[in-house]
Amino acid sequence: MKFKTTPYHLDLLKDEDRLSAFFEAISEYDGNTDLAYDLGCGSGVLSYFLKDKFDEIISIEINKKTYDCAKDNLAVFDNIEVVNSDVLEYEFTKKADLIVCEMLDTALIDEEEVPILNHVRKFLKKNGKIIPQGIINTAELVNLERHNIHWDEGVNYEVFSKPLVFCELDFLDEINPEVEVDMSLKATKEGLINGLKITSFTKLNDNLIVGPLPMLNPPLLIPLDEKEIKVNDLINVNLKYIMGNGIESIQTQYY
Ligand SMILES: C[S@@+](CC[C@H](N)C(=O)[O-])C[C@H]1O[C@@H](n2cnc3c(N)ncnc32)[C@H](O)[C@@H]1O
Repeated sequence: MKFKTTPYHLDLLKDEDRLSAFFEAISEYDGNTDLAYDLGCGSGVLSYFLKDKFDEIISIEINKKTYDCAKDNLAVFDNIEVVNSDVLEYEFTKKADLIVCEMLDTALIDEEEVPILNHVRKFLKKNGKIIPQGIINTAELVNLERHNIHWDEGVNYEVFSKPLVFCELDFLDEINPEVEVDMSLKATKEGLINGLKITSFTKLNDNLIVGPLPMLNPPLLIPLDEKEIKVNDLINVNLKYIMGNGIESIQTQYY
């Protein structure tokens, strides 16, 4: 099937590993199939994957141009209703068996995944599921070439520690968007550090975890004050951010 899209959503469609991960997670879903919500449906591709499983799919998209594409793409499927609305303003009247919500970004800082899920979880049936079902975040000490917060998209940096898991979220749980973590990272070599690399692993379902992909959570590189370190030094870093409030909410300091 040929999809009408905006340029951004075309890039999302071109990332075949991202698409196949979602396709697999939706194909493996084995719960009840009365109603699914596709929140932030974009071009409608995930609703398209849901169409043969569910009696009813409600697909919500905030952006009018994107909504127009999804509405056209999904017009032939009688069981899909496409709605142009902010999920936070939509009047939910029914509980769903499955919520699909791909508003992901690295550590969920820049996009609205967490505020949206905190808002809609009450419209999920008792044994309902969410795809993706969670996220795992890791941190590493690095030396960065650039001194602003940026994504790992063709930039150079050197890694000075093993990854440390500092956060694991299950989307079925109520999530406090305000994150503050103290972490001790052990240096694996000597040199100058000036940053943290944050990597997110997306848990699509119990069997499927995907690491960063070009259009799914490229690692985030965050500056720290410069520090000379030796092998086996424990470097204590305090990291704060608010999920859904943007990368401007990130604060780091040594403690
Ligand atoms: C990363 S894209 C995913 C699109 C599509 N689900 C896919 O997987 O290709 C996230 C989409 O969520 C939409 N979105 C963001 N915030 C929203 C909100 N509050 N309500 C509804 N849609 C929203 C964006 O416009 C964008 O199309």
